[in-house]
Amino acid sequence: EQAEKNGFDHFMLKEIFEQPNALQKTMTGRFDEESNKVDFQELDWTADKVNNWNKIYIVACGTAYHAGLIGQNAIEELTRIPVSVEIASEFRYRRPIIDENTLVIVVSQSGETADTLAALRQSQKVGAEVLGITNVVGSSIAREADNVILTMAGPEIAVASTKAYTTQVLSFYLLGAYVAQMKEMISDEYREQLVKGIQAIPSQIEEGLEHTKGLQWYAESIKDSKSVFFLGRGLDHAVALEGSLKLKEISYIHSEAYAAGELKHGTLALIEEGTPVIALATQDEVYEKMLGNIEEVKARGAQVMGVATEGNMKIYQYVDETCYIPATLSLLTPLLSVVPLQIISYYTALALGKDIDKPRNLAKSVTVE
Ligand code: G6P
Repeated sequence: EQAEKNGFDHFMLKEIFEQPNALQKTMTGRFDEESNKVDFQELDWTADKVNNWNKIYIVACGTAYHAGLIGQNAIEELTRIPVSVEIASEFRYRRPIIDENTLVIVVSQSGETADTLAALRQSQKVGAEVLGITNVVGSSIAREADNVILTMAGPEIAVASTKAYTTQVLSFYLLGAYVAQMKEMISDEYREQLVKGIQAIPSQIEEGLEHTKGLQWYAESIKDSKSVFFLGRGLDHAVALEGSLKLKEISYIHSEAYAAGELKHGTLALIEEGTPVIALATQDEVYEKMLGNIEEVKARGAQVMGVATEGNMKIYQYVDETCYIPATLSLLTPLLSVVPLQIISYYTALALGKDIDKPRNLAKSVTVE
């Protein structure tokens, strides 16, 4: 096992550091060499079929569900097709409105999660097209879905998912661009910007992973807190949910993620002197609004770590410390901003002496209902 960890103390840390490579592999072969358009040769979709979809459902559990939330944003933004994201164990026990004009995307690292598989089967029964996004060739979901996008994360051993998540998120960006191309809804100029942005991600993550000392120190400072809050708006809210889940899973510290604008409708009551708040502020359109929300928690005594894009100096005056991520398109920031959150969770759990790769009560793959 030690050899498999490749010099890292835990699989989770190894897998965090494998992300640049996993993302590179997942995008390899998915751009047409001449046109630089996104190309999914494995999908048998025709323009007719794609144009018939009037609704998309994304169905998944756990971290894959959080990847789906980013997927929803990306697909709606790029294709203007309405997208709903649902937890598989909810979706399967109600009567979702789906038919042959619906695309259902099931997302699952293992391809074996019982509830997600059930959602796939139910969707097919009513004639919906099912796309599986999975990391395991030959898994039940890979075999049963009408079409499959394989993430190329390689085996993920740690229960807390990291590289599987980022490759799922990447798959959604590629998928969104691909559908937009088929519907002729994306300008060449924007597509080129997007493709360039995507192609730069692996080296940008690598760059970020070279400076994790500050995050280690930060993790030490929050390890005895009774609760940690993650705030964000839009895509940052989706990343906040994933950051909060990671922290809960492996450090057992209570944590909540909140849409920052919703704070004053409840969560603000829980902010006390010294409460750690991780505030994501990477979205240009709501940057000023986020600063306002940071002021709200600061006024109640919160200790705030701001996560922002390089060059955004203004946040300095609002927070206690800052973690900068490299500049990219607003749409793509989740791939960069989630990494420091993974690192913070890892070092918090490490400082507490928890069983990082095998957290209590959790399993890597949940094949029971
Ligand atoms: C378990 C794992 C999570 C994972 C979820 C969904 O709860 O502990 O890390 O996100 O299952 O798994 P899947 O294989 O369907 O992505």
